[in-house]
Amino acid sequence: LIVRQLSVGTMANFVYVVADEESREALVVDSGWETGPIEAAVREMNAQVKFIAATHQHFDHVTTIEVLKSKVGGRVAAHVSSPVACDLRVRGGDVLELGRRTVKVIHTPGHTRDSICLYDGVNLFTGDTLFVGTIGRFDREEAGAMFRSLRGLVETLPGSTVVYPGHDYGDVPASSLDDQKAGNPYLQVRDLETFLSLFS
Ligand SMILES: [Fe+2]
Repeated sequence: LIVRQLSVGTMANFVYVVADEESREALVVDSGWETGPIEAAVREMNAQVKFIAATHQHFDHVTTIEVLKSKVGGRVAAHVSSPVACDLRVRGGDVLELGRRTVKVIHTPGHTRDSICLYDGVNLFTGDTLFVGTIGRFDREEAGAMFRSLRGLVETLPGSTVVYPGHDYGDVPASSLDDQKAGNPYLQVRDLETFLSLFS
């Protein structure tokens, strides 16, 4: 799938347009603050937006989602536990079809309970779960969920997976999972206790 990474707003948000080359069907990952750059990318890519997925409920990711839908079309998708108004409620394991390609929903609670990552077999869109070099914030009572969500990604996805985060917080805008396993301290701990010690 073709990936276009777009930087939007003043909080270093990244949003994505992901399109199937053959059918031109596309998924937008988050809408961020402004729809202009997304509309422009959709036009340039000659893409047909089929889905707009919310990685999670935070305003900096979804504030313009309804506006974007009115401009580019598509069905808004969010996790079943999400307060985001949507057309399609998804769970971990569900797939979004773009032409003959599929994008899998991975439920990764921790940053928020409705956090999802999206995986197309090569690229992983991580929202605020995983950033380049760091991870998303979480409430103390969600630490176990966050730890398990991160371990799940590290243990099940290939090291060559390209991590596309929801914010530009790293030294590079995207990174391989192998590079993150080597350089992201939060992915190197293997038990919850050690994970928690990183925050004390
Ligand atoms: Fe967030």
